[in-house]
Amino acid sequence: MKKLMAANWKMYKTWDEARATAQELVDLAASKLPEDREVLIFPPFTAIRAVSDAFADADGFSVGGQDYYIKEEGAFTGEIAPRMLLDAGAEFGLTGHSERRHVLGENDEYIGEKTAYGLTSGLKVVFCIGEKIEERKAGKVEEVLEHQLRVGLKDVPRDINPENISVAYEPVWAIGTGEVAGVDEILEAHAFTRKILISIFGEKGNDIRILYGGSVKPANCGEIIALDNVDGVLVGGASLQSESFSQIVLA
Ligand code: 13P
Repeated sequence: MKKLMAANWKMYKTWDEARATAQELVDLAASKLPEDREVLIFPPFTAIRAVSDAFADADGFSVGGQDYYIKEEGAFTGEIAPRMLLDAGAEFGLTGHSERRHVLGENDEYIGEKTAYGLTSGLKVVFCIGEKIEERKAGKVEEVLEHQLRVGLKDVPRDINPENISVAYEPVWAIGTGEVAGVDEILEAHAFTRKILISIFGEKGNDIRILYGGSVKPANCGEIIALDNVDGVLVGGASLQSESFSQIVLA
């Protein structure tokens, strides 16, 4: 299984900025990218084509959309359909990100519907889960993760190609705070996620990638990526500069 080194650019970068950063990343990392790694960037919608053009000749580099709506087309002002992402050169979609859950108000049921819809529309999906700090303090990490996984993956076909779905564990308290989860916290959450994935998908659950996200930096990526059940990372702030994200990709 290849490690998935993913960047979520959130609401940062214009077309020109995205194009420049993506090209610099190719220049810094493409020739050195190990066989067992893949690079993925989620730019804002307006810059997807800029990044997919920059990645056109770079093996192992792909692009995704940070969100999409659950219809093929129609009167849904402001929304983007999976086929529009695919048309712009994206292969992946992102669902369940904590900012969509907690800032934009998406619930588990809608995230589950969106995850299944993206897959049937031909996207590969990175589905995010993660507990809030008060849930961790109350000893509810497993309860929260299990609920998010079971509802979020409810309509995903059980015979899915495991390469098409990944889970990103992003503890909300570690996102954008500089406070990375400890090794034991990552190990426990990822082992638990693996157990639930196997209970849902059987043996295939072993082949679904589990990414860690939350304050990943060049200085901590090497340690995190080597942990059991860590099959990639999802990076926010430290992915915005090509220099630091290239160090993460090659860590
Ligand atoms: P940071 O790397 O900035 O903590 O963000 C993580 C994240 O939300 C990636 O989706």
